[in-house]
Amino acid sequence: MVLSAGKPRQQHDFVKLPKTDLHVHLEGTLEPEMLFRLAGRNHISLPWKNPEMLHEACKFRDLSGFLAIYYKGCEVLVTEQDFYDLTRAYLERAASDGVVHTEFFFNPQVFCGNKISLEGIMRGVFSAVHDMRERISCLYMGTVMRTRPVEEALRTLNELAPWYDRIAAFGMGGAENGNPPSRFKRYFEACRERGFRICVHAGEEGPAEYVREAVELGVDRIDHGNAAVHDPALMKILAEKQIPLTMCPISNLRLNLIRDLGEHPLKRMLSRGICVTINSDDPAYFLGYASDNWEAVQRALDLTPAEVLQLALNGVEACFLPEAEKIKLRNDVKTAFPGAPGMADPIVERTARKDQDGFSPLSEMD
Ligand code: ADE
Ligand code: ZN
Repeated sequence: MVLSAGKPRQQHDFVKLPKTDLHVHLEGTLEPEMLFRLAGRNHISLPWKNPEMLHEACKFRDLSGFLAIYYKGCEVLVTEQDFYDLTRAYLERAASDGVVHTEFFFNPQVFCGNKISLEGIMRGVFSAVHDMRERISCLYMGTVMRTRPVEEALRTLNELAPWYDRIAAFGMGGAENGNPPSRFKRYFEACRERGFRICVHAGEEGPAEYVREAVELGVDRIDHGNAAVHDPALMKILAEKQIPLTMCPISNLRLNLIRDLGEHPLKRMLSRGICVTINSDDPAYFLGYASDNWEAVQRALDLTPAEVLQLALNGVEACFLPEAEKIKLRNDVKTAFPGAPGMADPIVERTARKDQDGFSPLSEMD
């Protein structure tokens, strides 16, 4: 596979589906070409000679192997302009990929060793969000590393206080095994006390028990949540409470958490009434933006038109926008599927025919 910068990997038909991307790490949108450009601009030496070598290094064995490269990549981001460029490039790419609303994570802890103030970082990020406001709706989520002490997570939460009015939620990521959500109870309680939504990566490489802990912490969303499929009682709870899972199928494949997308639990969980959504995670490293994930999953799991519609609507239910804005998004999705829920619309019927005659969904929408 060849790396390409600045646009979705493929111009397939899911680009035209109005969709959300609710689980994407801004740092994970750093395309190799930009990474090398910023390294040159900031005089930073890298362990790879060129983007192709970085690409070779991106055949990950597991989550920790990926994170080592991901954190290395973050070292090239040192000026306000760098953060502006990164954010703007992601938002432009997402908008042309048919993402109508994105909620992205950003972890300030990663940058405390770089020579830039938090003010500079946040100015760069929010200027790009502002400049792109006509093209894409966007919410920002702070996140912290589960491999660092809870006190540091609390410090990060406090340091972000000047921007609280612009932050929708707080989360937690990083190497999961051995770092259960319950260890961060104080952090999540503090986020809640300050009025934020909370979400946590759980059940990505870790066990179903970590997903259960996340539920017990009262999270608003679970990032990944795959392991819950092994625990029928937990699946029932997720469905009853309608706690959304922001799943990232291509990420799971690239991190060897599944051998094949056909094994992905997304469809089984959807059939149990769980609010499953499709997202990109770290698209520059995993070679898959939002529509690539939709297309890959549709192909591998043979999703029906009703399931595609349900997944798109789940993205709206799961997002952190106010209800008034959700109404508009819901309408946008339903306009792409005007026959729903009766499925009488020709676009939806064509989706169903895909496997028989090679026709792809939504291709004749414009
Ligand atoms: N940070 C960035 N990507 C991540 C992932 N897939 N899992 C956990 N933490 C992350
Ligand atoms: Zn993630």
